[in-house]
Amino acid sequence: MILKESIEHFYAQGSSLRDKAGAQQAVHELRFFLNNGEVRAAFPSKGHDELGGWAVNEWVKKGILLGFRVGELTEIHGHELMHFFDKNVFPLRKLTVSHDVRLVPGGSAVRDGAYLGRSVIIMPPSYVNIGAYVDEGTMLDSLVLVGSCAQIGKHVHVSTGARIGGVLEPVQALPVIVEDDVFIGGNTGVFEGTVVKRRAVIAAGVTLTRSTPVYDLVRQTILKATTQVPLIIPEGAVVVPGTRPLTSPYAHQHQLGVATPVIVKYRDAQTDAATAIEEALR
Ligand SMILES: CC(C)(COP(=O)(O)OP(=O)(O)OC[C@H]1O[C@@H](n2cnc3c(N)ncnc32)[C@H](O)[C@@H]1OP(=O)(O)O)[C@@H](O)C(=O)NCCC(=O)NCCS
Repeated sequence: MILKESIEHFYAQGSSLRDKAGAQQAVHELRFFLNNGEVRAAFPSKGHDELGGWAVNEWVKKGILLGFRVGELTEIHGHELMHFFDKNVFPLRKLTVSHDVRLVPGGSAVRDGAYLGRSVIIMPPSYVNIGAYVDEGTMLDSLVLVGSCAQIGKHVHVSTGARIGGVLEPVQALPVIVEDDVFIGGNTGVFEGTVVKRRAVIAAGVTLTRSTPVYDLVRQTILKATTQVPLIIPEGAVVVPGTRPLTSPYAHQHQLGVATPVIVKYRDAQTDAATAIEEALR
């Protein structure tokens, strides 16, 4: 049975699954192909313009979910070259499997089953979850989360404190996509299957979700997700944090507004200069 079929087979069995060892082996093989980038949770697809040109590989997400179902809690030993130093009065708590706590290793950790292209830089502490795809030359600065199945392109800069959300369920949902040469500013959040097209710039502090309308000042349109289609940030858009007033009488009385990202311009030489990355750091 080929891997896709075997994962579909185990996944469909739900809680009545008996062949746990077989299912674990399928997850193991899936990790192998995710590691080398041969299979991906989502892939560029010309037939899916409405999804920003991307399609989801449902069976891959099912395989990862299967892993959570059939995986067993196990003790993970630290690397022999990793040592930590702290005040002797404050030792680490000794936890064992019997505590039934999942203590995931690392100040920075890359889960097996995540693809990392060549020359990727990961500054600690950062975390790259299973199913993620981080293409070559991309920089993940400190405190970056690359959530499960997120697809990050080539030469993307993900600044400190940025969270790229994971999208495992539902399995048919597109994960977050960040295409080549995008700049993700500090303390940003890109969640719920948002697609950020090539060369876009997400300014510091912007949060993008399925519920976030984005106002495009240049093209004078409002970008929104629907139940079928994710929020798609166009190629080269420069998105900054903005606000808009709320209009109900109560909101008006209290001068309330909500945060809303605004596309103030499309990328130009000034933006390139403002987002230029120090090559010496690479
Ligand atoms: C988006 C960014 C790159 C600026 O892009 P830019 O092309 O240089 O933008 P400009 O300076 O031409 O500004 C265009 C307009 O947007 C506004 N603007 C730009 N950045 C803004 C921001 N972050 N918040 C609010 N408004 C902003 C400007 O005031 C200007 O408005 P105006 O025309 O009414 O004066 C910059 O704001 C940014 O976020 N940099 C990333 C910082 C960061 O996270 N660094 C992490 C590594 S330490």
